[in-house]
Amino acid sequence: MFTSIARSYDRNNRIHSFGLDRCWRTRAVRLAKARPGDHVLDVACGTGDLSEAFARAGVSQVTGVDFTPAMIDLARAKAARFGGNTTTVPQYMVADAQELPFEDGLFQVVSIAFGLRNVQEPSRALNEFYRVLSPGGRLVILEFSEPENRFIRWGSRIWTDRIMPITATMIAGDRSGAYRYLPRSIATFADSQSLVSMMEGAGFQCMEPERLTLGICTIHVGCKPT
Ligand SMILES: C[S@@+](CC[C@H](N)C(=O)[O-])C[C@H]1O[C@@H](n2cnc3c(N)ncnc32)[C@H](O)[C@@H]1O
Repeated sequence: MFTSIARSYDRNNRIHSFGLDRCWRTRAVRLAKARPGDHVLDVACGTGDLSEAFARAGVSQVTGVDFTPAMIDLARAKAARFGGNTTTVPQYMVADAQELPFEDGLFQVVSIAFGLRNVQEPSRALNEFYRVLSPGGRLVILEFSEPENRFIRWGSRIWTDRIMPITATMIAGDRSGAYRYLPRSIATFADSQSLVSMMEGAGFQCMEPERLTLGICTIHVGCKPT
């Protein structure tokens, strides 16, 4: 499914979020409180937009992993063109969030944007994130959420359930049904309270979740105790 939408993935994101997806990722980087010497692991990195945002923020290393080779190919192609004011260029590899090929405590920040709800066993992935983080490390989860205000929720559902599946499918020329799956995956994924419980179950100390753009997205931050 992700292979079939990979080529038009960035264009669809920009169009259907009215360019806000970049602001959401920038906010996720801020909340991660990454420092210059940090090594960041961006899980389910897709085409690498969040990995690049971390690189631009000046951390020393960024590793992006995703289990769809087509996404990793696009991320690597973007990395080859990656410039800006930074010397950090993200490195990418194919890997499953539920079985990360890294030693314990290697990273100071782990991030996952619009990815956790797609992972088959999110709690297994959260355990892995905890394992590969160093003590004091931060986990940042950026995910779509259901707005609390019912009028905003109604508008957001019309956009996500009715309009976007048609326009995004046309732009992607997709036959896999990926953009019909997306609204279902948002509606059925854990709400904020359940996600906090899952994070705590994996050992994280959670901060107050931050809702973005009228609650369309939420950022959860968890710390691995020192
Ligand atoms: C909606 S995209 C998000 C991409 C990117 N993080 C972003 O912000 O645009 C979801 C990504 O999750 C990846 N994914 C889903 N399940 C995964 C898993 N178990 N392990 C690694 N990647 C996974 C998919 O291949 C896809 O690239």
